Amino acid sequence: MNDSNSQSTFTPREIVSELDRYIISQSKAKRAVAIALRNRWRRQRVPEPLRDEIYPKNIIMIGPTGVGKTEIARRLSNLAQAPFVKVEASKFTEVGYVGRDVEAIIRDLTELSVQMVRDEEESKVQARAQEMAEERLLDLLLPQPAATHSGFELPRDDEEATARAAAQAKAQADSHDSTREKLRTMLREGKLDDRYVELEVKDSMFPMIEVFSSSGIEDIHIKDMLGNLPGMKSKTKNRKMKVPEAFEQLAAEESDKLVDMDNINLEARKRAEESGIVFIDELDKIAGRQSSSQGPDVSREGVQRDLLPLIEGSTVHTKYGPVRTDHVLFIAAGAFHVAKPSDLIPEMQGRFPIRVELNALGKDEFVRILTEPDNALIKQYEALMHTEGLDLKFTDDAIEEIARIAAQVNQSTENIGARRLYTILETLLDDISFRAPEMTEQEVSITGKKVNEELKDILESEDLSRYIL
Ligand SMILES: Nc1ncnc2c1ncn2[C@@H]1O[C@H](COP(=O)(O)OP(=O)(O)OP(=O)(O)O)[C@@H](O)[C@H]1O
Ligand SMILES: [Mg+2]
Repeated sequence: MNDSNSQSTFTPREIVSELDRYIISQSKAKRAVAIALRNRWRRQRVPEPLRDEIYPKNIIMIGPTGVGKTEIARRLSNLAQAPFVKVEASKFTEVGYVGRDVEAIIRDLTELSVQMVRDEEESKVQARAQEMAEERLLDLLLPQPAATHSGFELPRDDEEATARAAAQAKAQADSHDSTREKLRTMLREGKLDDRYVELEVKDSMFPMIEVFSSSGIEDIHIKDMLGNLPGMKSKTKNRKMKVPEAFEQLAAEESDKLVDMDNINLEARKRAEESGIVFIDELDKIAGRQSSSQGPDVSREGVQRDLLPLIEGSTVHTKYGPVRTDHVLFIAAGAFHVAKPSDLIPEMQGRFPIRVELNALGKDEFVRILTEPDNALIKQYEALMHTEGLDLKFTDDAIEEIARIAAQVNQSTENIGARRLYTILETLLDDISFRAPEMTEQEVSITGKKVNEELKDILESEDLSRYIL
């Protein structure tokens, strides 16, 4: 549990090159986030009391939709091995939200941090937990003989008989031990995987809610509330399950016993405070001119005022204890088409000193996005079709054509950035996706000509493009 594994040690150059694996272009934004991340590492090495004076330089990423803002933040958080939450600022303008709800952001961040630290600690004790789980599983598969000595025969005052009984007991124990070892071997070889054992399990009325790392974390507070109700998790019942499942269950129980939850909570709170990253999407939606005194603008400014304490530094009470937000890094993003960063309230502007613009994407970027990233769309489709035994190939001119069409449709209808590639590829491959299991060909080559033929009709009608592409 030291800082070295809780903070990424990448240099800015290394961070950028990692981001390059997934995001094309946008080098200014990559640089800015790389510097911000490295600065946290630097800050950790500055001696007190100056260290506490160094606040993160929060960032606003400005750029049209679908050009990689969220993607950069998401990949950054993976690199940083830092607790990361993403929220939509506009969510706080919705009816029903009240000011204090913004604190849920920090609670979610802490929850994730706890989960991260717990996972790390559990992986440290995993081997030990599995050993103990194996012993317990063997106990279940082969219960100890009720009494090692056959007690009821003993009271006879007969030395020979006593010796005989002891020998018998020993033989029984030996044979038990050797059976146990045989079972152990079978267990490890997976030969008992179809056997059932009965285990005591927690009988919770509510299923655990999964916590995801970079999205979908908004629902955690439900678990927060339920988890706090006394007796909610304490009921148990017996359940029959197969050996592998029982092993998992027992290993988890043993692991729970081996890790020190108090320590985990402490470390997790520290990690949320020192390395946490909060990504606020759609910041522009809460940037309104103050001049208009009516309508949604009032609540927009209200949301900024609610967020401000978090961003300026305050203490949020979580079920794991208080968490200070002074050093949490905030990365905001927005299109800022209408509202500008200067439309944010001054305190907010001051807290986001770094502004980076992301550029709109054109045909050349699309060609690269289609093919270069580790998770490039073309690679995805090829892999998907490969599972059907189909060798899907795109010629270079097909890629060019797809990119060109994407750029064209973005221009003639609405510019949705790289997201356009998804809709175009889906339309293009619709037929193959449907028929793949029945196809007798082993190889399908998509050429530029084919791309044109498939999409021609749709492209000729702007109305159709609007709906389909
Ligand atoms: N520069 C890029 N390089 C590679 N892929 C990209 C790039 N920009 C966008 N994409 C892809 O397009 C999709 C949408 O991008 P992303 O979610 O980052 O958009 P965004 O800029 O956050 O837009 P919005 O303002 O609508 O939230 C992502 O799945 C991503 O893979
Ligand atoms: Mg986004």
